[in-house]
Amino acid sequence: MHMIKLLLVALTFTVVGCAPEQDSKTAAAEVASRDLQPADGQLAEIYNRSCRSCHTVAATGSPLTGDATAWQPRMDKGIDVLLDSVINGFGGMPPFGLCMDCSAEEFEALILFMAGEQG
Ligand code: HEC
Repeated sequence: MHMIKLLLVALTFTVVGCAPEQDSKTAAAEVASRDLQPADGQLAEIYNRSCRSCHTVAATGSPLTGDATAWQPRMDKGIDVLLDSVINGFGGMPPFGLCMDCSAEEFEALILFMAGEQG
């Protein structure tokens, strides 16, 4: 009986102890993402009207701009697969990421910028 009580206490601490840290990490990534802009003016204009509204808001479930940890497993799929995801839509992301007049080159540059690899 005593053992079970101890186990319950330990479990409670594990659950309660982890959640706030995860939340504050996400919140920090969200704040950081909002300061980032592509260096290129034309790309920045596209980013601000299309991608930014989702990719700086954790609640959308999108990998946040500049969040290398979130982008790593995405980048591992290869740029061609990611390009395909943007053009056809992927999960909660609508086709073209809401940029109907973007070229493949622009999408690629935007992906690299958001993944923190360029821009
Ligand atoms: C309406 C919200 C929204 C907009 C606008 C949006 N995205 Fe996304 N994006 C998402 C969400 C949500 C995901 C994660 C989907 C999932 O993993 O189920 C995502 C994922 C991605 C991925 C990873 C795809 C993969 O295969 O893992 C890329 C790349 C991406 N977005 C690029 C862009 C680009 C570039 C733009 C702007 C042109 C953009 N997104 C605009 C919501 C959005």
